[in-house]
Amino acid sequence: MTQKHVVITGANRGIGAALAEGYRDQGYQVTGTSRDGSTGARLDVTDPAAQAAFASEMAGRAVDLLICNAGIYADKGQSLSDGYPAEMWAQSFATNVTGVFLSVQAMLPHLQSAEGAKIAIISSQMASDELAPGGSYIYRASKAAALNLGRNLAVDLKGLGIAVGIYHPGWVRTDMGGGAAEIGVDQAAAGLIERFAALSLDSSGCFETWDGRAHPF
Ligand SMILES: NC(=O)c1ccc[n+]([C@@H]2O[C@H](COP(=O)([O-])OP(=O)(O)OC[C@H]3O[C@@H](n4cnc5c(N)ncnc54)[C@H](OP(=O)(O)O)[C@@H]3O)[C@@H](O)[C@H]2O)c1
Repeated sequence: MTQKHVVITGANRGIGAALAEGYRDQGYQVTGTSRDGSTGARLDVTDPAAQAAFASEMAGRAVDLLICNAGIYADKGQSLSDGYPAEMWAQSFATNVTGVFLSVQAMLPHLQSAEGAKIAIISSQMASDELAPGGSYIYRASKAAALNLGRNLAVDLKGLGIAVGIYHPGWVRTDMGGGAAEIGVDQAAAGLIERFAALSLDSSGCFETWDGRAHPF
């Protein structure tokens, strides 16, 4: 049996690094990308030229699972009266929304070469319209857009046999989540890996938590 190939964006630290380790432990081929090239595959998800170069590097290699994990939370603690500058909106959307779209677009031919390929988009509980406690406007809006992107890609890619799931990874102890967060990266990664295994064309378009609960939209 050929080894399954997983591509993970932002795999040099945090949840992405734990996912890469988890899949390697399970015998998968893993291509983890990083902006600094430290993981062996260099990719800034916001850069179309870098996406094209990465797709060329992957030439001839099928991708069974693409995990769009790279993300930023730039507006933590911003003030409504004088914070949330336009540049912060632009950079956050470039990473958390455009970056997801460009990654999917670049990897699409590679996903089509695999049998039963899947895409996992790491969004957040902060994407929810139903659970909207206020604040962090940029991050919330960008993660809501990533959720919307995943829901629409699920429809369009169903005919190609590619399932798309959108996930809240938990509140995780990383540089982004902080030291007071509820779970560690290994627990988050183990839960997510189970969710990605369960993803199918029947459940495509789902929005789920790392521990298998349907998330409110
Ligand atoms: N931690 C949480 O509690 C939590 C909760 C909900 C959702 N999430 C989501 O989970 C994902 C991973 O978060 P994390 O906690 O592991 O964050 P993290 O520790 O801050 O790591 C973020 C990763 O994304 C990469 N990245 C940022 N901008 C990028 C770009 N333009 N191109 C390529 N890679 C880029 C970073 O690379 P560099 O090292 O180069 O910066 C890093 O590898 C994110 O999408 C985040 O929004 C996290």
